[in-house]
Amino acid sequence: MCGIVGYIGNKDAKEILLTGLERLEYRGYDSAGIYVMDKEGQGHLFKEKGRIAALRDKVDVSVDSTAGIGHTRWATHGVPSVINAHPHQSSSSRFTLVHNGVIENYHEVKDAFLEDSQLKSDTDTEVIVHLVAWYVEEEELTTLDAFRKAIVGLKGSYALALIDNEEPDVIYAAKNKSPLLLGTGEGFNVICSDAMAMIKETDQFIELMDGEVAVLTRNSITLENLAGEEISRDPYTAELDATDLEKGMYPFYMLKEIDEQPAVIRRIIQKYQDENEKLHLNSEVLDVITECDRIYIVAAGTSNHAGWIGKQLIEKIAHIPTEVHVASEFGYNMPILSDNPLFVFISQSGETADSRQVLVKVKEMGYKSLTITNVAGSTLSREADHTLLLHAGPEIAVASTKAYTAQIAVLAILSEVVGKAKGFTHESDMIQDLGIAANAIQSIVDNKEHIEQLASEYLSISRNAFYIGRSMDYYVSQEAALKLKEISYVQTEGFAAGELKHGTIALIEEGTPVIAIVTVESVAGHTRGNLQETQARGAHTMVMAMEGLDRPGDQIVIPRVNPLLSALVSVIPTQLLAYYCSLHRGNDVDKPRNLAKSVTVE
Ligand code: G6P
Repeated sequence: MCGIVGYIGNKDAKEILLTGLERLEYRGYDSAGIYVMDKEGQGHLFKEKGRIAALRDKVDVSVDSTAGIGHTRWATHGVPSVINAHPHQSSSSRFTLVHNGVIENYHEVKDAFLEDSQLKSDTDTEVIVHLVAWYVEEEELTTLDAFRKAIVGLKGSYALALIDNEEPDVIYAAKNKSPLLLGTGEGFNVICSDAMAMIKETDQFIELMDGEVAVLTRNSITLENLAGEEISRDPYTAELDATDLEKGMYPFYMLKEIDEQPAVIRRIIQKYQDENEKLHLNSEVLDVITECDRIYIVAAGTSNHAGWIGKQLIEKIAHIPTEVHVASEFGYNMPILSDNPLFVFISQSGETADSRQVLVKVKEMGYKSLTITNVAGSTLSREADHTLLLHAGPEIAVASTKAYTAQIAVLAILSEVVGKAKGFTHESDMIQDLGIAANAIQSIVDNKEHIEQLASEYLSISRNAFYIGRSMDYYVSQEAALKLKEISYVQTEGFAAGELKHGTIALIEEGTPVIAIVTVESVAGHTRGNLQETQARGAHTMVMAMEGLDRPGDQIVIPRVNPLLSALVSVIPTQLLAYYCSLHRGNDVDKPRNLAKSVTVE
């Protein structure tokens, strides 16, 4: 949710900033801007509404710059426009700033300090740069002191980068809640919201922590706390392969990421095997799970949907009662908790603010926590007691696909290892079953044409659609519906098949697409019956059934896998249906309207 970058060195700053912003576009793409200093110490500001590509067209290529800051925006305060685009400047244009996050007390700051300042935008951000200028001008503070004093007075979340025209060889940075990394190299230093943005320049990064200020020059990074005391911290090596960030031959990242799923599952099996090729978890993680009396899964969006599959797996294999909660609700409306709960945060990015506010609260309450994430070193990973990694590789399309299946695979392994440790045994072999699921996914992605045809036949003109299912298939229906909604803009509901007749069936009209997912034997007949009820009212019905439960005329038959892992496979055709529906409608599949991949505001 908004991405920021900064560079100070000897190379072409504007190109490095633009490339970095392209890598961060998943965090928002309502507007973008850069501010660069040329070799004569002259500043140049470029801002544009919309994508980085539009900003690129606006940037004057003849500007010879070696330092600057940049921003890509997901609008919170103020519409997407050039005026509301970052960077923002003080009245004299001496100070220029980019911000990721939300300043909650910006009205108060404005009333207390900035009555005489001419603010141009509707953003919460602009007050910060005016406040820094106010402290410099009114209290005659140095820029560093003014920056520090300004942020002490801010409430909310922020990652900030600031340039003072009078010190063209310095960039200031600070953060609270929103992520910010400092990258180091020979003769240059960088700032970014995510290592991905600057991995082409360096793989050496220093994490900036809440309540710290960084001062970057070409040859140095100084860290201080808000009392001005110096802090030392070694860089870590970001394990990111720059080639993972390329689309290659694919038209969209989403299709690439759908295709990567069999490989991701095989990689996860490998990563969670010990030297005897048995599934294992780090002993501290195993202890904390086996000792708890109840698991509370807290997550948002697709990760929340994976949580529901996780509940099935954990309860059926490891026999631990498990609840699943929407992160944005849980923190403000907590249920009665068990005596010895474990909180499990599932998050692809590890940065979701809704989940983090819950983590902060449960930590204060003294409870234990585990994060399941794709991003090592992310906020939720750093702040929870334990982490399990997804090893899915960078997921760039806003619509999550491989992270969802990776989350389920890791939850299956967790359930298996914990179940065994607790003395519960069962016939099947999880490594083999996950391998079979990976092969099943492969066979579906190898036959995409069939699903593309179905997308044309069922979803090309419809305004709404339904996925229905029972038990595990209901949870997959919810994820399937989210996928279709978010990238194709078809209003879709994922519904418990049996519940449809209690009101919602009123929405079925002639031609409404209703897709039934049928992988659970005990309820297969009931789901088919519910689908018939919609067909009798004009619905255009489709069945996606698992081999063995299929019937002649079913539109999609998915290979048979261990029923506990059916979600891994049944979700794949739904991802492809969403992809092709979006593609056929001419949408930007990877960057759907109004969304961002990493949502760092509540
Ligand atoms: C955003 C994304 C969703 C994602 C959700 C949770 O809303 O658009 O695709 O599922 O955040 O993200 P997380 O990184 O916590 O899994």
